[in-house]
Amino acid sequence: MFSKTSIAHFNQLETPFYYYDLDLLQQTVAACIAAAQPHNYHVHYALKANFNPKVLQIIQAAGMGADCVSGNEVKEAIAQGFDKNKVVFAGVGKSDREINAALDAEIFCFNVESVQELEIINELAAVKGKVARVAIRINPNVDAHTHHFITTGLEENKFGINTWQLDDVITTLKSCANLDFTGIHFHVGSQITNLDVFKNLCGRVNELSNWFEQQNMPVKVLNVGGGLGVDYYQPDNNPIGDFNSFFKIYRDHLKVKPGQEVHFELGRALVAQSASLVSRVLYVKNGQKKNFLVLDAGMTELIRPMLYQAYHHIENLTRLHGTEAATVNYDVVGPICESTDSFRTDVALPESKRGDLIAIRTAGAYGEVMASSYNLRDRVQSVYSTQTELLDVQQ
Ligand code: LLP
Repeated sequence: MFSKTSIAHFNQLETPFYYYDLDLLQQTVAACIAAAQPHNYHVHYALKANFNPKVLQIIQAAGMGADCVSGNEVKEAIAQGFDKNKVVFAGVGKSDREINAALDAEIFCFNVESVQELEIINELAAVKGKVARVAIRINPNVDAHTHHFITTGLEENKFGINTWQLDDVITTLKSCANLDFTGIHFHVGSQITNLDVFKNLCGRVNELSNWFEQQNMPVKVLNVGGGLGVDYYQPDNNPIGDFNSFFKIYRDHLKVKPGQEVHFELGRALVAQSASLVSRVLYVKNGQKKNFLVLDAGMTELIRPMLYQAYHHIENLTRLHGTEAATVNYDVVGPICESTDSFRTDVALPESKRGDLIAIRTAGAYGEVMASSYNLRDRVQSVYSTQTELLDVQQ
């Protein structure tokens, strides 16, 4: 919920921009840590969700590890102060250069996605006279019941190693002197709101962990990935996710052997609610069948609605605290020369005018980081709550 002071501050700024509520971010990270600690769970933040340096600072200061999916993310995590012993590196296509850099950085572990990748990491580590810690990303064939574009754990997905290839994995691990097998890794998808999915995952992890032990391959780490969803429909009612219920599923269903560690890679649930994309109405186009609000932000600033048909709550900030205006249904669209550049159709909003501020909520995860310069657009700016609070104090 935006205060009148914040909105007055936004009015003085050039749009579009991402507005970060750093207090909410801090509270969310603290809630996650408080829920994980009693079970000794290790949480790695998935940088891909948002690598804004201010966001990273808050998360690393809280002591979380980092889950990276590119050489540059590994570099950035370490530059921002994440402990290298808490950095994991996943990705289906790690280049030799990225692997070499991660070996030099002596990260905790590579999450490996194919037998060929195991062989390459072994070769590159041998050249450096190092031993690389590796976890095997296994495709558990668990349906995440989320949008098919963000489902990752089915046999038809490109991620992970399928179970029928695990004999090859064992042979390779046993023959590679420069690999140290640390454990098994899973990630079934993102924006998962049905917690039964995680329960199903636990069942598969238990089976596979037993199988590895039977092959004389002790599993030190069970990394179950991320995926916890957030409430895109009612961000003000549910600003912080239910981390207790999430971790409880694992506590109740995951069989952890003595000495084993359980690791998580949460992205969205930590950062999504702490940012909104703030934009201005450039034009109101009233048609016979449709009314359009043309914003100064589009798919170049937030692509989720266009790429995944994702729902984001949209509100008119200028009319938020005002007297009741008539409600009009608008298609809220961006300025980009693409017909898919639409945030949503038939959005009921107070009658809106050119210059009104529009907030697109729950944009902290996979928002700013997926921005592009298509149409040679300027890079979207960021504004932080601390700046607004300063203004609060001055007034
Ligand atoms: N670990 C691995 C191996 C992953 O691939 C991902 C996300 C995560 C952890 C973090 O998942 P989270 O807790 O954030 O769900 N751009 C899409 C989401 C892509 C997710 C990719 N993988 C979106 O905007 O919905």
